[in-house]
Amino acid sequence: MTGRFITLEGGDGAGKTTQAELLTAWLEERGRTVVRTREPGGTDLGVRIREIVLHERGHVAPRAEALLYAADRAHHVETLVRPAIARGDVVLQDRYIDSSVAYQGVARGLGAEQIRSLSEWAADGLAPDLTILLDLDVAVGRARVAAARGDTFDRLESEAEAFHETVRQAFLDMAAAEPRRFLVVDAGASAPEVQRAIRSAVGPLVGIDEG
Ligand code: TYD
Repeated sequence: MTGRFITLEGGDGAGKTTQAELLTAWLEERGRTVVRTREPGGTDLGVRIREIVLHERGHVAPRAEALLYAADRAHHVETLVRPAIARGDVVLQDRYIDSSVAYQGVARGLGAEQIRSLSEWAADGLAPDLTILLDLDVAVGRARVAAARGDTFDRLESEAEAFHETVRQAFLDMAAAEPRRFLVVDAGASAPEVQRAIRSAVGPLVGIDEG
């Protein structure tokens, strides 16, 4: 079977985890081997980088933050993602290069093009076959996170609402620029509706035809 690389993007509280779980079950029931993973933190080394980048108490310089995400990605892609794709698995990944471009490149102001090229270098050019953008009103997303976790936000989540608005718009701009790679789904819809939209794009990509 041909390996596939599918990434999920969107703000916090958009439902990426729920949708990834539903999609994994659907694919596995149809005989695909799915590797579910995430950035940052998809490897043992990545777990340690994730701890620094999300929970460091003092100031983290924006360029250092960008390089930490890139380091996590470089190790993750080489040791886990590429081997899985080469085996013919479906890799379903929470966040990838588009997150770096939106958060570090645009919202932190480091420059979208520079962060994309840094990230592509880190990933040695590995591009997703499909990127699912779960688009959601920022206030709704934050309320979901607060309800689920009782107001404990990590370093990035603690940024002001304007930062997250910028992130949201950056994702939408990327999707508009690469319509063949992106599927934009309204994450304000019900979970089953969102899942239906996702399956209709993933099915053809992995050779599942359910009419
Ligand atoms: P995520 O794993 O989605 O958080 P959680 O499990 O708490 O929902 O993402 C962690 C945070 O890292 C999120 O706020 C987005 C941010 N992030 C970046 O800023 N740049 C990146 O390149 C990536 C992958 C994530």
